[in-house]
Amino acid sequence: MLLAPSILAADLADLETAVAICERGRADFLHVDVMDGHFVPNLTIGIPVVEALAKRTEIPLDVHLMVSNPERLLDQYLDAGASWLSVHWEAATHLDRLLTRIHERGARAGVALNPATPVEVLDDVLPALDFVLIMSVNPGSAGQKFLSYTLDKARRLQAKARERNLEVTIAMDGGVGLDNISRVAAAGVDFCVAGSAVFGSEDPAATIGALRSRAESEVA
Ligand code: DX5
Ligand code: ZN
Repeated sequence: MLLAPSILAADLADLETAVAICERGRADFLHVDVMDGHFVPNLTIGIPVVEALAKRTEIPLDVHLMVSNPERLLDQYLDAGASWLSVHWEAATHLDRLLTRIHERGARAGVALNPATPVEVLDDVLPALDFVLIMSVNPGSAGQKFLSYTLDKARRLQAKARERNLEVTIAMDGGVGLDNISRVAAAGVDFCVAGSAVFGSEDPAATIGALRSRAESEVA
């Protein structure tokens, strides 16, 4: 299981500590939630902050663009140091073009899906992407309740990828924690984002490890 703590749930006035926690906990990625006040009401992390994070750590940045017109900002987030970059299916008019652009720039291309968007919308474009970020909460903020019906989307996506022999990483984002990560892993998810579960815990670095081992004991 790949683990990506979402720094949105950390103390945003102390990102230095958030990064140190992720390094100590051996996080696979830093999940960076970019919101534009338009696609979602909230406004969060901009290009200069991503740039600063990329300079500060070797941990690859997984940048989740919750923005309208992602084509407008794509290159700038790639320049800033995004290694994995996802755009929302609901926001992308020319999705294939965006995925091609992300690949041209040497990054991993992902598509994020709102809870209500079925995975079947990606049937045709599946060979052109590296990962699907299944949102298990409505995008907009950390600390929301996990929507269990999204587990079936992970199962369906895994079945499709297997059937067609495609390498697609299945990621889940929102409300994932120690109480449900076993179910998430059992549904075929191989990449978990966790915000509040990590940064809201008493020992965030240890929680990253605990999430990983709980997920892996389920899959074993
Ligand atoms: C929600 C974000 C998530 C969120 C995760 O819009 O995309 O990445 O920060 O936080 P938790 O794990 O607290 O739901
Ligand atoms: Zn996210």
